[in-house]
Amino acid sequence: MSTTAGATAFTARIGRIEISATMAINNEATTLRSQGVDLVDFGAGEPHFTTPEHIKQAGIEAIQKNFTKYTPVAGIKELREAVVARHKQDFGSNYTFDECIVTTGGKNALFNTFQVLIDHGDEVIIPVPFWVSFKDMVEYCGGKCAFVTTRAEEGFRLTAAMIEKAITPRTKIILLNTPNNPSGAAVSPEDLTAICKLAASRGIFVMTDECYVYLDYTGRPFSLGSLKEYKDSLLLMGSLSKTYSMTGWRLGYALAPKAVVNELQKLQSQSTSNPTSIVQKAGVAALTASQQCVEDMRTEYIQLRNRMVAGLRSIPGVKVNLPDGAFYTFPDVSEVTARAGIDTTELSRRLLQDGHVVTVPGEAFGTPGHIRCSYATTLAEIDRGVERMRTFFAAL
Ligand SMILES: Cc1ncc(COP(=O)(O)O)c(C=O)c1O
Repeated sequence: MSTTAGATAFTARIGRIEISATMAINNEATTLRSQGVDLVDFGAGEPHFTTPEHIKQAGIEAIQKNFTKYTPVAGIKELREAVVARHKQDFGSNYTFDECIVTTGGKNALFNTFQVLIDHGDEVIIPVPFWVSFKDMVEYCGGKCAFVTTRAEEGFRLTAAMIEKAITPRTKIILLNTPNNPSGAAVSPEDLTAICKLAASRGIFVMTDECYVYLDYTGRPFSLGSLKEYKDSLLLMGSLSKTYSMTGWRLGYALAPKAVVNELQKLQSQSTSNPTSIVQKAGVAALTASQQCVEDMRTEYIQLRNRMVAGLRSIPGVKVNLPDGAFYTFPDVSEVTARAGIDTTELSRRLLQDGHVVTVPGEAFGTPGHIRCSYATTLAEIDRGVERMRTFFAAL
């Protein structure tokens, strides 16, 4: 390797982060598939549905009408208004379009918001298990993560009392992700409200990653945005990726105080600029048309979840909670790993190589002893994968 491309050439900040663990597993799975191995994929972090037809048509129409130039950096007004109108209708929030910025996926909204609010030494409270990217995003800014462990035996419940213990004078943001990736657990509206009140009383922001807010099976979908009196403390991060099965289109948004949105706009103006113009038109269609497609997908996910949980519970040594939302189960396989004398990273690796089932080890989410199994697939694939896991675990 030449000197200029050697390790010393790179910044300290890029040295602080790692490539996402889920990407590493997907790469290994791709290699096996290219060798002709028939895999069952429980690794997916995206819906198995195709993007609904009317959304695709809006994108096609945008191309045909030559809507293919730069747009305002924060997104077209029509889309920003559609985002706030949908959020208002579904959750009772009261944002205006200039308290909204649209971004190149939800990940981009999260990344940029950390960039404008977190400085060296600032602390972000992150409940465990956490989505893989949170830790790296915070550390890329020089921030410190303060982890709060939730427990499977308690349904991964998160309370204000647990959060309070982690607060220090450097705490800047409490980061919540509900329903959660990877556990599928939803923080109850009561606990969310208590956390929000606590944060506001201490002058701390609450950032909620609402990526899975529409994939909530509790019958009580909730957004902190409904607590209008706490608006100054709230940073709501949204995404169209999972709700409308639009992962590849890359469209997300942030709803936040206007001063934060202005800074986000400044950063976006010097980096990605506007999200893709034609995607914005597809986003307008997604948000303003009938939401029946979202309801249909949610109904199917519930069926898939129930099948996956029943299957996993029938495997000796596997314990699993019924997830409240998202499309992941997060079984405790510690009995299996203890018997085999291995950790869950090794279990996932062998399950992929020898059992031909793709899963993600709990270590990636700060929770060894568990593996993440996505049920964004078909009932037939769930049955096939569960049988492979049963056979593989029994032979360990
Ligand atoms: C918890 C969570 N937040 C955010 C994202 C990012 O979604 P996107 O950037 O596709 O909108 C994901 C994707 O897997 C996620 O699981």
